[in-house]
Amino acid sequence: MGRGSDALNVLLREERRFAPSAAFVTRANARDREIYGRAGADPEAYWAEWAGELDWFERWHTVVEWDPPHAKWFVGGKLNATYNCLDRHVSGGRRNKAALIWEGEPGDRRTYTYWDLHRETSKFANVLKGLGVRRGDRVAIYLPMIPEAVIAMLACARIGAPHSVVFGGFSPDSLSDRIQDAQAKVLITADGGYRRGQVVPLKANADRGLERSASIEHVVVIARGGGISGETGVHMKQGRDHWYHELMDDASPVCEAEAVDAEDLLYILYTSGTTGKPKGVVHTTGGYLTQVYATTKLVFDLKEDDVYWCTADVGWVTGHSYIVYGPLANGATVLMYEGAPDWPDRGRLWTLCETYGVTVFYTAPTAIRAFMRWGEEWPGRHDLSRLRLLGTVGEPINPEAWMWYHRVIGGERCPIVDTWWQTETGAIMITPLPGITETKPGSATLPFPGVFADVMNQGGESVNAGFLALTRPWPAMLRTIYGDDQRYRDQYWSKWPDLYFTGDGAKRDEDGYFWLLGRVDDVLNVAGHRVGTMEVESALVAHPAVAEAAVVGKAHEIKGQAIAAFVTLKEGHRALDGLADELKEHVVEKIGAIARPEAILFTADLPKTRSGKIMRRLLRDIAEGRALGDTTTLADPAVVEQLKRRYEEKEV
Ligand code: WTA
Repeated sequence: MGRGSDALNVLLREERRFAPSAAFVTRANARDREIYGRAGADPEAYWAEWAGELDWFERWHTVVEWDPPHAKWFVGGKLNATYNCLDRHVSGGRRNKAALIWEGEPGDRRTYTYWDLHRETSKFANVLKGLGVRRGDRVAIYLPMIPEAVIAMLACARIGAPHSVVFGGFSPDSLSDRIQDAQAKVLITADGGYRRGQVVPLKANADRGLERSASIEHVVVIARGGGISGETGVHMKQGRDHWYHELMDDASPVCEAEAVDAEDLLYILYTSGTTGKPKGVVHTTGGYLTQVYATTKLVFDLKEDDVYWCTADVGWVTGHSYIVYGPLANGATVLMYEGAPDWPDRGRLWTLCETYGVTVFYTAPTAIRAFMRWGEEWPGRHDLSRLRLLGTVGEPINPEAWMWYHRVIGGERCPIVDTWWQTETGAIMITPLPGITETKPGSATLPFPGVFADVMNQGGESVNAGFLALTRPWPAMLRTIYGDDQRYRDQYWSKWPDLYFTGDGAKRDEDGYFWLLGRVDDVLNVAGHRVGTMEVESALVAHPAVAEAAVVGKAHEIKGQAIAAFVTLKEGHRALDGLADELKEHVVEKIGAIARPEAILFTADLPKTRSGKIMRRLLRDIAEGRALGDTTTLADPAVVEQLKRRYEEKEV
């Protein structure tokens, strides 16, 4: 779990309350509590009303068909996500409004109006068609945080080709696994992207991944990292690889948006689960767009003149829903930044907020804890007075970080929306409404109107501390796991009949507020990123020296959790100096830097039960320096005592 028992006790004593100011309430998009009652009384009518704010080519005949565990929303309706994000603003009054303001890490800038974005997207949609991409074909996207990432996603949606965005920090192997699972036909990448002053060689990584990805017919390469001048040594394979700018030169800016079915795939996004293989979470079009549109409008309270900034990467679901589809469907001005928050100095984000007049800012608790560590002087040097609303997502926020965010970044005037949701939920599920909800630091408060959650015990009884469940289908819910519907059933719907199991622990207080307690399964949350313990274990055992590995999370001041690995070596291998570092590098090679173990301890034996099951609970106790829990079920209790002593001596 993300929160130890000490942290939980702090939460239970949290008594501070923050009501929205009268000034905020007066202008808020949602200011009437009645919305909860209305949505609760007739959720279908309520969601249909939201769907009605989108543009449809054909109206649905049925709001929801619920055949557990499968739901269909807005059945019979036809629409296009890109049309809703671009065309309707171009034909309305937002034609020349800034849609995307982008700044690269080196300081270069570009601004796209809605009309610009529409033109570029239409051109690129034609490029994709020219490469043989047809409706239903999967397109992989492996890009840095550049405007072309948004253009590529919207171009896919325009022609009805589901995209699969792979975070640019993932390794060649991770890219290739995802390409193969989705059988993607085209890959869109860049020669490189900037991170802390260095160029990350994306194309070179992609080339390595492509060695095992037979489904890819064409690769489109965006010139970002100096590849054309030869600096990054990009190799272009004849017939397969094409420069984006060359293809775009000849492309027509006219491309009708395909009228897709409400239930047609919009995208696949891979996320870590409890096995070694990531899951391809499937999102469809109508319900997803409806809920990201509604939540963006009410949770972020967007107004015509807001400058909205979500610091996530488009490679994660937060980037999909709250950089691209939600804000653009609302006609917002979105800020996008390519690089690291501490480059060239620790004030970079605040420089950006000041320069572009950011009004709504959405980030992760791990980032807030890093800002705290860096010191108040960095934000203190900048005028942040335009900020009016702050958000967090990705992991539980500790009240101390919440209070710092409120005081130092929010100037004690901005409401904070702590939003709980998942890749699988597609959109925000538990959250304050900033003009209505009295917030408590550390609580995500209440389900969004039209969303139904409960806290349950193993037996499926409603309790005040247990597992978080979602009790009714919601429009943006995942539809299945790509190519593995059985895994979808097993993972989410087998704990209790017809109720969705989130994998999170939660507590509910006397006001009915939800307090999220972190994962209860073998998924870690490292700096807001999901990492499966099994994924790291399979990477470790793929190393020739490793016989067995057990991975657990240990509490980390900034990242929330860090990875600790207990490793036994094969006969004939010894834990020589440097092997731990080599194994850490090996995991980075296999998965990506987010999965780098912080500590590795070599051991001759792992603590196991008599039936051979590794006792992770005990390993967690060791990794977090706690007294050992019950060891009576162990086959050999001496193993764990010894391990604990060695861990403490090494202070790894
Ligand atoms: C955790 C990110 C507490 C949770 C959108 C969930 C949170 C997992 C919060 C999903 C929050 C996300 N408070 N925990 N506000 N938001 N989580 O799929 O454990 O990357 O199950 O989606 O992050 O992570 P994912």
